[in-house]
Amino acid sequence: MKDYKIAVIPGDGIGVDITREALKVMNKVAEKYSVKLNFTEVKAGGVAIDACQNPLPQETLDICKASDAVLLGAVGGPKWDNLEGSKRPEKALLGLRGGLGLYANLRPAKVYDVLKTASPLKNEIIDEGVDLLVVRELTGGIYFGDRGRCEDNGIAAAYDTERYNVEEIKKIAHVAFKSAMKRRKKVTSVDKANILESSRLWRSVVEKVAKEYPEVELNHLYVDNTAMQLVRKPSQFDVILTSNMFGDILSDEASMITGSIGMLASSSVREDSFGMYEPIHGSAPDIAGKDLANPLAQILSAAMLFEYSLDMSEAARDIENAVQRVLDKGFRTGDIYTEGTKKVGTKEMGKLVLDEL
Ligand code: IPM
Ligand code: MG
Repeated sequence: MKDYKIAVIPGDGIGVDITREALKVMNKVAEKYSVKLNFTEVKAGGVAIDACQNPLPQETLDICKASDAVLLGAVGGPKWDNLEGSKRPEKALLGLRGGLGLYANLRPAKVYDVLKTASPLKNEIIDEGVDLLVVRELTGGIYFGDRGRCEDNGIAAAYDTERYNVEEIKKIAHVAFKSAMKRRKKVTSVDKANILESSRLWRSVVEKVAKEYPEVELNHLYVDNTAMQLVRKPSQFDVILTSNMFGDILSDEASMITGSIGMLASSSVREDSFGMYEPIHGSAPDIAGKDLANPLAQILSAAMLFEYSLDMSEAARDIENAVQRVLDKGFRTGDIYTEGTKKVGTKEMGKLVLDEL
């Protein structure tokens, strides 16, 4: 029997509620395919700050490093909002991404047919289809660049630095082009090359990498224009390739246009099969522990984990199909509820997916 180590980080807020449901689904699928999943639950984010004054304890990072994949819920909440930068829950995410070398963040945004009405965009825009993938560089740029406090002629000042080298850009560009080859073969590289030197380097490297993928169509857009195009005509996008910060912003926008952020999964990966999988949404502290959260994004993150880290794409399809059937039958958590559908809580939604497997 194949045996895998999975590190589980429920984290804070609804991270706990949704991860519980996803683990049940993973166990059921593991049983069906006769693999053994050894879960180790570890702390990161606010819970880790409370337990050991450190958002990312060394033990957590070590256990993740020794695993085949990581399933992460969400971190953060108002309780820890006033801590200084290096002690905030979000620091755990950056530490995990950097510490595990997860330089590529894949954030698909897709409109589910049965959830179309949940999109804030007009029907005629949505009807053209939204099915895109944001490929965000995750361990470089301004998130990891030099930063500090200084003075401008006696006036307090601060700075953060956007910096990329050719190797970093090449690596993420290859991820984008390879992803495009499995999709509609189109890459839109997003930058601010009219202003930023780092963007001009980005553009030239992306153009070189593109030569290795002659079948893929490449275009470049400025980030401000991209923000506009995403709401004007999202159907024009297949793969969006971009830097850490632009990807942070655009992936939120992309998820919003689908109208169902509670449905969207993501993965953070590197060259080998190791990856960290998490929903796109945050920890939603206001509804934590109330059986209100939508567990589907986390269940779909588990599907991604099976597909990319355990090479079990059939298992991934099983989970996705089960989710689709539950939606087709009209079950909805509060975030995607519309009149005429059946409202259920976190646990029941989890159970409905289990029953379809
Ligand atoms: C995300 C989040 C994080 C980021 C925060 C919580 C550090 O917004 O995963 O997009 O900015 O990367
Ligand atoms: Mg973000």
